Amino acid sequence: MGVKTWLFQLLLLSFVLLSTVNKGSAGITSTFIRSEWPSTDIPLDNEVFVVPKGYNTPQQVHITQGDYDGKAVIISWVTTDEPGPSKVQYGTSEKQYSYSAEGIITNYTFYNYKSGYIHHCLVDGLEYDTKYYYKIGVGDSSREFWFQTPPKIDPDAHYTFGIIGDLGQTYNSLSTLEHYMQSGGQTVLFVGDLSYADRYEYNDVGIRWDSWGRFVERSAAYQPWIWTVGNHEIEYMPKMGEVVPFKSYLNRYATPYMASKSTDPLWYAIRRASAHIIVLSSYSPFVKYTPQWHWLREELKRVDREKTPWLIVVMHVPIYNSNEAHFMEGESMRPVFEKWFIHYKVDLIFAGHVHAYERSYRISNIHYNVSSGDRYPIPDKSAPVYITVGDGGNQEGLAGRFRDPQPDYSAFREASYGHSTLEIMNRTHAFYHWNRNDDGKKVATDSVIFNNQYWASNLQRRKLKKHQFMNVVSHATY
Ligand SMILES: [Fe+2]
Repeated sequence: MGVKTWLFQLLLLSFVLLSTVNKGSAGITSTFIRSEWPSTDIPLDNEVFVVPKGYNTPQQVHITQGDYDGKAVIISWVTTDEPGPSKVQYGTSEKQYSYSAEGIITNYTFYNYKSGYIHHCLVDGLEYDTKYYYKIGVGDSSREFWFQTPPKIDPDAHYTFGIIGDLGQTYNSLSTLEHYMQSGGQTVLFVGDLSYADRYEYNDVGIRWDSWGRFVERSAAYQPWIWTVGNHEIEYMPKMGEVVPFKSYLNRYATPYMASKSTDPLWYAIRRASAHIIVLSSYSPFVKYTPQWHWLREELKRVDREKTPWLIVVMHVPIYNSNEAHFMEGESMRPVFEKWFIHYKVDLIFAGHVHAYERSYRISNIHYNVSSGDRYPIPDKSAPVYITVGDGGNQEGLAGRFRDPQPDYSAFREASYGHSTLEIMNRTHAFYHWNRNDDGKKVATDSVIFNNQYWASNLQRRKLKKHQFMNVVSHATY
């Protein structure tokens, strides 16, 4: 046995022991609150928002998955002087671009603000588990980046997701981003509320979308960010004559929604390595018979846990939240979708919206109805764990008031800024951490090993079968 394997097993054992000790115990409300910086946006002239030098130089570069299975990316960027080419040159060796792809250009207005030329280019037919270099722009104004494609869809594929929410563009946001970039995360599941540009008025709204695009480029140009929509993307602003919901967001952030048979960029699904990720929109119709409801019903049937054991749902509004902020806002979705989450044994549901961290036990409340049934959530082994990571660090500050007493379903909660990582080890286990932003280091504050909801129960069944077989054999001997 290698030292690495031995260490892994030791770590696993200690986690198992710890989780056994914690089982059934009351939840933890951490009284620690860390808010290092004031909740104000970084000034526009700060270097974190720097506009790259040169004529018509691409800026606000970001990538996202471009297909269902991870063999494509959508590369997006903005040029400001003229449309310029929408071409991406790419290849597997640095500075050698053997291939190219053509994208599209769009732009929009918001009040009197005129956006730059927004480019979206699908780069497909990629090899799995390969580093690609890419180049956009022309001549002296061109820029080069790289990304790594995921391993092929495989139940035991090792892969690390980062989870970030409600980021904004303050010094706390910068701290979250910098801590995340040291975490080893390979793809970000972003749980909504991107720029907080809607906190501004008139032309400043568009300007703050641009600054945010430059702000996240340091990570989003090099690894996919999987986008979920939040309330700050709605931008329903009749005072300014702007009443088309999600206008800035939809123009700027593409999603591969058609690859999962969705009819709307705001809800879709992707498969990546050993995970099936379902992205829902809290701010699109979801009640029975709506398009999102129909689509989710069909998408859940397409999930194949033999190929992608880890079933993860992301949305903006948490279904279980014991913070005073946004309390009960997820209750409209819960009676519609919760029974499906239980039936399909969803592993984890990540949300944002509440500017604090919270993790639930596995609980459900599917037997309650307005005239009878259990009134409170009950422990349920088939239920997902609900995790709120709305603590990216935006200008609205922390949601510091948790409801007291802590409900039985709440396992851990703390009002500090941070991000999470989910390191999927294989089909049965994943290491999960919530990392509080702390001075110069990433502090894993809440750590759990999750057993896969599908394979854990299958293993149990197999153990049972083996036990029964051994009984038969021993009886047959006599
Ligand atoms: Fe929100």
